[in-house]
Amino acid sequence: MLGIGAGDEVITSANSWISSSETITQTMATPVFVDVHPQYYSMDESKLEQAITPKTKAIIPVHLHGQMCDIEAIMRIADKHGIPVIEDCAQSHFSAFKGVLAGKRGIAASFSFYPGKNLAPMEMRVA
Ligand SMILES: Cc1ncc(COP(=O)(O)O)c(C=O)c1O
Repeated sequence: MLGIGAGDEVITSANSWISSSETITQTMATPVFVDVHPQYYSMDESKLEQAITPKTKAIIPVHLHGQMCDIEAIMRIADKHGIPVIEDCAQSHFSAFKGVLAGKRGIAASFSFYPGKNLAPMEMRVA
């Protein structure tokens, strides 16, 4: 659908389960890691823009342990550069940030129904 392949870059966080970056390497693209927020341990939106290059084809923020990324800030940067966002919500069922549920803003979102997955309370990340 997005035509991502060898020579392309996809931005995500290293602080995740291997699946987040494995989906990128399975397309032969290169994962580019943005460091995590010191308080929330999910993608630090203030470090995202500097990781974008002409090769960037997608951004995969990971809402880890129910701790949401600042998805609105990430979407603003992604939209400015015309880059699609795919939300990894495997560990963020029912998490929300500023009233927006995980998985509502990207062009696609993935959830995991593996039985051991954590289910987060609403509004786990304080704005
Ligand atoms: C952050 C994250 N993304 C993706 C996955 C993959 O989920 P599944 O194994 O259900 O495809 C997991 C599973 O642990 C995960 O923790």
